[in-house]
Amino acid sequence: PVSVYENKHIASKMVAKRIAEVILKRQANGSNTILGLATGSTPVQVYDELIRLHKEEGLSFKKVITFNLDEYFPMDPSSKQSYVHFMNEVFFDHIDIPKENINIPDGTLDREKIIEFCLAYENKIENLGGLDLQILGIGRTGHVGFNEPGSAPNSGTRLVTLDDLTRQDASRDFGGKGNVPTKAITMGIGTIFKAKDIILMAWNTKKAAIVMKAVEGEISGEVPASFLQLAENIEFVIDTDAASELT
Ligand code: F6R
Repeated sequence: PVSVYENKHIASKMVAKRIAEVILKRQANGSNTILGLATGSTPVQVYDELIRLHKEEGLSFKKVITFNLDEYFPMDPSSKQSYVHFMNEVFFDHIDIPKENINIPDGTLDREKIIEFCLAYENKIENLGGLDLQILGIGRTGHVGFNEPGSAPNSGTRLVTLDDLTRQDASRDFGGKGNVPTKAITMGIGTIFKAKDIILMAWNTKKAAIVMKAVEGEISGEVPASFLQLAENIEFVIDTDAASELT
């Protein structure tokens, strides 16, 4: 289903509320919650609201285990552009999640260790019982995670090459496209599909064209997010601007 909200602030509150409900329900049964998280500008207000729920309403993340979708490769976690840095800054440093519960693909691996790392990432998710909820943004190439055009629907966590447009969109953070890494480690489309629930968010008219293709276009590897039309457990949460090209 597609849910359209007036703006990203209202939409983000709804998404944060859903995440909190999953955590509270599982916590009541003594279970951990396994969350798949995204970086980028899209989920920032969701993290803001979750931090508020933690600080003002006592929502605890002690029994939450997180897996981020992706990290640039190579990438030093202490670098300002790393997704490790981003997640600490916008979310983890402000909640009570145990550091050992945080999982983000490792941008410092030796090349020959990557395949082993990716398999272990998949196995760790599976051994914990799978992702209870995966949140996603969407790139202008139609990527989810860093699954660029050409990605297979059954793809797993792996090293990928970033699309030129993706590197262009990241160029501001890196002070020029030439400084943006050409590769990344990302969960696959198949990894995302295994989540019990999936929420894809998009705000702004800049995303309207790709949202239209993802939500009602042909299902094809050319627009990896379009594979999500086949998922039973997907909700597209968008604002009126991002919905402006839907028929
Ligand atoms: C981030 C990620 C990407 C972004 C997408 C949109 O972890 O996996 O797919 O969600 O590039 O980025 P923003 O939100 O910055 O427009």
